[in-house]
Amino acid sequence: MKRVLALCAAAALLLAACGEADEDPLADLNDEDPTTEDEAAVDDIDPEDPETIPGDAVEIFSWWTGAGEEAGLLALIDMFQREYGYEVVNSAVAGGAGTDAQAVLTSRMQAGQPPSTFQIHAGRALLDQWVAADAMEPLNFLYDEEGWWDTFPDELLEMTTDEDGNIYSVPVNVHRSNVLFTNLEAFETAGVEPPTTFEEFMEVAPALEAEGITPLALGDNETWTLLHTWETVLLGTVGPEMYNDLFSGEADWTSPEVVESFEMMEQMFAYINDDHAARNWQDAAQLVAEGEAAMNIMGDWAQGYFSTDLNLEPGVDFGWEPTPNTGGSFITVVDTFGLPEGAPNREGTIDWLRVLGSVEGQDPFNPLKGSIPARLDGDLSQYNEYGQSTYEDFQTDTLVPSLAHNSAAPPNFTDAAMAAVVQWMAQRDAEAAAQQLEQAAADYLR
Ligand code: GAL
Repeated sequence: MKRVLALCAAAALLLAACGEADEDPLADLNDEDPTTEDEAAVDDIDPEDPETIPGDAVEIFSWWTGAGEEAGLLALIDMFQREYGYEVVNSAVAGGAGTDAQAVLTSRMQAGQPPSTFQIHAGRALLDQWVAADAMEPLNFLYDEEGWWDTFPDELLEMTTDEDGNIYSVPVNVHRSNVLFTNLEAFETAGVEPPTTFEEFMEVAPALEAEGITPLALGDNETWTLLHTWETVLLGTVGPEMYNDLFSGEADWTSPEVVESFEMMEQMFAYINDDHAARNWQDAAQLVAEGEAAMNIMGDWAQGYFSTDLNLEPGVDFGWEPTPNTGGSFITVVDTFGLPEGAPNREGTIDWLRVLGSVEGQDPFNPLKGSIPARLDGDLSQYNEYGQSTYEDFQTDTLVPSLAHNSAAPPNFTDAAMAAVVQWMAQRDAEAAAQQLEQAAADYLR
């Protein structure tokens, strides 16, 4: 069986660089010359144009390209191909947190041209968007066949199950959003300890600055990182109970604790790098890796980037803490894949989901990705010190869903919150941001 692995699939903006510009994208696919056929097919794959995807392939759609993102996916695909031998198209659209991928996916779904399977966060994104639109097949049969009902934590099953008890995707990992990554040497130089509270943050930041070290690295070239940072600060000012109440519509978004989250972020942002708007999340994390900056608030895909891509050793080359004031709470970001109605190569897609949900799939994937296994029986000896400590926290901490990564709220609220935080960044008006959120809650949460 011919195997096409389209490594060059990427965001629309990047496609020119991938050489997709043929007038007739199918011309090369029909080329009789066996030496150029696969190459041509790879070059012509365009996730935005389903006509370029070979009809019998299993098309795997995600946003995992580049540093910190791709290695785990490629390991999974490799294993899937070795085990099952299907033709696979890796339709990955670049852009952290799926910034661009989600737009491409939406237009494909609306056009009735879904990929075989796609990356989707457990929680509201899956349930309110695609399940509500009857666009997904229930996977209860697969959970029965594989005996998965007791394999995943109840919290994860709930996040992928609708009111009728139908489950719609397979979780491959658990990421943590509220992590403060640190450069240990920078702290040593400044003679201070990594902070665990906002108060401590405000104490250590000037000491780091005095040593010429940027206290906090930010990369908001893609603005999702602002929403990401803010959700961790919000959790720190409101606590996990009120955090949940806010998203269930029970708490008031104009409460003083919410206003305080923006005021606190303003104080913290007095210590960020000047070129933050030019950097993406990897570029910001890199400042910490190199010791130019001391801290970065990011999900633990940054750990994948540090350990897998930069070969740094956890606990030696970088440290980590829960973000200030969030010790004991764990913001979950759960990547899952599902089976869209009308998925091309349904049988192959189901086999892909089998691999994703298996120990054999999760344990090679997650150590590279920086995440912990979604399964309860992962082999922790395969995870580094970071993974092991995070797994422990996951067992004992209070778990709350991520807003920035589409689990906590329906997509229209998440979009409105993104707009509020971006506007706050430009205007720094905490009260106005809280008012905007309250309006969005009235419109979409209650
Ligand atoms: C998240 C996703 C992670 C990681 C991150 C950065 O939304 O769940 O797996 O890819 O974005 O792109």
